[in-house]
Amino acid sequence: MSNPKSFVVAVAGATGAVGREMLKTLEDRKFPISRLVPLASKRSAGKKLPWKGGEVTIEELGPKSFEGVDIALFSAGASVSREYGPIAAKSGAVVIDNSSAWRMDPDVPLVVPEVNMAAAKNRPKGIIANPNCSTIQMVVALKPLHDAARIKLIIVSTYQATSGKGHEAVEDLLQQSRSVLAGTAVTPAVFPGQIAFNVLCDWKAGEGDYSEEEWKMVHETRKIMGDDSIGVSPTTVRVPVVNGHSEAVHVQFHRPMDAAEAKNLLRNAEGVVLMEEAYAPGKHPQPAHATGTDHVFVGRIRNDLAVPGALDMFVVADNLRKGAALNAVQIAERLFPSPAR
Ligand code: A2P
Repeated sequence: MSNPKSFVVAVAGATGAVGREMLKTLEDRKFPISRLVPLASKRSAGKKLPWKGGEVTIEELGPKSFEGVDIALFSAGASVSREYGPIAAKSGAVVIDNSSAWRMDPDVPLVVPEVNMAAAKNRPKGIIANPNCSTIQMVVALKPLHDAARIKLIIVSTYQATSGKGHEAVEDLLQQSRSVLAGTAVTPAVFPGQIAFNVLCDWKAGEGDYSEEEWKMVHETRKIMGDDSIGVSPTTVRVPVVNGHSEAVHVQFHRPMDAAEAKNLLRNAEGVVLMEEAYAPGKHPQPAHATGTDHVFVGRIRNDLAVPGALDMFVVADNLRKGAALNAVQIAERLFPSPAR
């Protein structure tokens, strides 16, 4: 380790939507870095990225990239993580991986700091997995309620932003939007159909008519909460929003909970901003407000009309920050606490 109070940090996938946000988050939060190693594909090698008022030069990711690295943040896709995660760990780095590659490996903790930071201590492979963006914001909102009344069932519908699919997906939304406004034909480049002025299910098919994204919400929620009995019934949908995921969440407990109790539990919950008004047009959690912030916004908390003792709520967060980059950096901050912070 270079200097016990300052670390060599590699970011694999530094040019991507999440990778760029990782750099920004490390800088914003003054993570103590003695050397930053921004890594991407051969295509980007030699290009520059902004860093602390200046620039850093991108290096091509390779087997030797992790020599002397203390912390390796990965967000370059699952196949890159599968290949290079173990190489980085073997060379002594703590790997925090944002891809889906290692999340369900029993020897890899799946961590949301506000929910289960203790799990990060046990990392036999030297790898810690960052959960899927839609799961992170949901468990931050639900953990305090689970601790109080144990969740039996979650029915969740997502409204997910295009940035969750990467920077090229955002470009596709913008290009398609220009085509629609110009009255010309929409030619999708990344999405499997029209995302501009439309909603779309664009994830790979998973088992039994559910998408891979939906299965991630099922398995990851149970692993993070440490409770395999929680029923999770998700419908994931992409909406023409650049950034910020929203979720309509219905939740049932092993004992009745009302909206007042849930608000009391969430008012001072770590990472949560509670929006108290159950219904106020325009004053509820929204992607436009959550973008660029670190919090999970929880609002529209209501007693369910049809199921006594159950609740409904609306949960919004910046999917690139809390849903990805920030969560990874928060894990690193807690593993390597700095007196300066
Ligand atoms: P590059 O920009 O050189 O293609 P996003 O999720 O926004 O699409 O970004 C993906 C990130 O992963 C980018 O930084 C991309 O680099 C990087 N990446 C993709 N494939 C590889 C690879 N085989 N080796 C290293 N980095 C990769």
